[in-house]
Amino acid sequence: MDRPLVSINFALSADGKISSVQKRPSGWTSNDDNARLLELRKEADALLVGRGTLESDRMTMKALQNPLRCVVSRSGEFDPQHPLFHTPGGAVHLLATEGTCREIPGAILHRGSLAEFLTELSALGVGRVHCEGGGELVRELLELDAVDEIHLTWAGHKLFGGREAPTLSGVPGDFLPASREYELTEFDPRPETGECFLSYRRKREARAQ
Ligand SMILES: NC(=O)c1ccc[n+]([C@@H]2O[C@H](COP(=O)([O-])OP(=O)(O)OC[C@H]3O[C@@H](n4cnc5c(N)ncnc54)[C@H](OP(=O)(O)O)[C@@H]3O)[C@@H](O)[C@H]2O)c1
Repeated sequence: MDRPLVSINFALSADGKISSVQKRPSGWTSNDDNARLLELRKEADALLVGRGTLESDRMTMKALQNPLRCVVSRSGEFDPQHPLFHTPGGAVHLLATEGTCREIPGAILHRGSLAEFLTELSALGVGRVHCEGGGELVRELLELDAVDEIHLTWAGHKLFGGREAPTLSGVPGDFLPASREYELTEFDPRPETGECFLSYRRKREARAQ
């Protein structure tokens, strides 16, 4: 495999949404969920998000081991004033797949596809990429069959509704090219918060017919 291992982490509402249609920022789950989010970052050589999530959650993408901080965009319209570019941490790598992108001091710019970017990260020595959304970015990772681990916080205490509210595979639309199968590796209900932590690993072995 010429790409790093890829994990994703999402909080899901009772109706499987990752945010309301108004692109509600994070903060709707418990402090325990936030602690788990930080814990999951500890294994990562690189953190990865879409530009939408970077913007709505005002992320600075920090962890003690200073993983690379990677943000993906089609347009390349990164805001040089964003706190990410003014907060110490791991090296910032920006991917612009289509548009032109102006230089941002201190950030390393990549061009090409998401698949090529993963290969470039691998060549930089990145063994584990941890993606924190959003759904649009993860949709393409799933199309590439490049999601090896899924970490979820099932937060059934919220319902968002909304035809256009995104799920972890983006705004509901076309089916994936094929269903992806995962096996459970963690089941940790937290009755005190009304949430449950779940982890899954991609099952890749061929099944006998
Ligand atoms: N519940 C959770 O755990 C969770 C996790 C993450 C995010 N969220 C929420 O989800 C919402 C953000 O969702 P979003 O739909 O905006 O998702 P997103 O995937 O973070 O951002 C979408 C933007 O990212 C870029 N992008 C996405 N996929 C790409 C690809 N394959 N190639 C190149 N660029 C790509 C594009 O940027 P350009 O526009 O620059 O081209 C696109 O407009 C926020 O409300 C956030 O709080 C929730």
